[in-house]
Amino acid sequence: MNILGIETSCDDTSISIVSDGKRIISLFSLSQNDAHKAYQGVVPEIASREHLKVIYSLTEKTLSNSKIPISEISAVAVTTFPGLIGSLVVGLNFAKGLAYRFNKPIIPINHLIAHFYSNFFENDIKFPFIGLLISGGHTALFKFNSFEDYTILGKTIDDSCGEAFDKVAKYFDLGYPGGPIIDKIAQDGNPISYNFPIALADIKKYGLNFSFSGLKTAVIHFRKKYKINQNEEDKLEDILASFQSAVAKTLILKTIKAIEKNGIKRLVISGGAAANSEIRKSFKILEKQGIEVYFPPLNLCSDNGAMVAGLAFHLVEKNLLNKSEFLSLDAKSRMIEMKRNSLFS
Ligand code: KG4
Ligand code: ZN
Repeated sequence: MNILGIETSCDDTSISIVSDGKRIISLFSLSQNDAHKAYQGVVPEIASREHLKVIYSLTEKTLSNSKIPISEISAVAVTTFPGLIGSLVVGLNFAKGLAYRFNKPIIPINHLIAHFYSNFFENDIKFPFIGLLISGGHTALFKFNSFEDYTILGKTIDDSCGEAFDKVAKYFDLGYPGGPIIDKIAQDGNPISYNFPIALADIKKYGLNFSFSGLKTAVIHFRKKYKINQNEEDKLEDILASFQSAVAKTLILKTIKAIEKNGIKRLVISGGAAANSEIRKSFKILEKQGIEVYFPPLNLCSDNGAMVAGLAFHLVEKNLLNKSEFLSLDAKSRMIEMKRNSLFS
């Protein structure tokens, strides 16, 4: 079964055709980094317009590259939530047009859950697992019994992990998106130059929730205070390496607790910041404690159409589709369970 996946929830337009939820036949993505660079962050209105400009030609390219005629595409899967509403609406309406014209069912997909599917192309991962999502829009710990049965164990109460990278980079005028730039500069830095704070470390008090805005502020404004060797000059690469290391330590602290509390020694990490070399290195150490640790392939960490088509296949297989939804489907900006309301929820 071939499924066409459409992803436009933020600032990447990505289209893919996936066969039987496993084989990526064709995948093309266009990032909008250049369009947003001047603002050092995503501007929602620009994002929607950029999706609109390229979605038709990108879909044509993905289809022609696949050599699969549209008649052999079984369904159109599309991200419908959560994300930037204008961006989602472009993808969803394009999917509706395609589905209507070619008489295909539409499969609505939750973007956050789809991120985890990025890990399933190269690995046969068993359930249950602890899921750690570290993207630009969200940071959360999940317990997955299956793709349909999951609970949120903790989430960020302020910035997401990716946002912290982007904002620190913005402050140092390094460009957008900040994650890959910081990752590269930090390679030459010493991660133990600064002892930046690990937020909400008291698990009894704060549970498995995260906070990154304090760390971001510490890096930006108070770096001298956290400098270990006061005789040395501040070096950008040391600041960034120490920041990255504090992010990795924060994530590991809460994730280990989630693993222990739930007695599940299987961890699946997903989202744009899962591409980070320090985070990958730090988590891989957990394998020595008998924990299975999975990261997505580097090209599937950020938003992509393959994870959308892949998760859709899984839902089709489990007969979880409601065909009557079709043209009445709507996009939603929020996933209610991810609302950042209180420190303790
Ligand atoms: O998952 P994603 O593509 O989009 C959302 O769903 O939000 O994540 C984008 C985020 C950005 O904040 C970006 O800076 C971050 O992922 N990112 C990284 C790296 N590559 C991308 N963060 C840290 N290190 C990286 N190598
Ligand atoms: Zn994403």
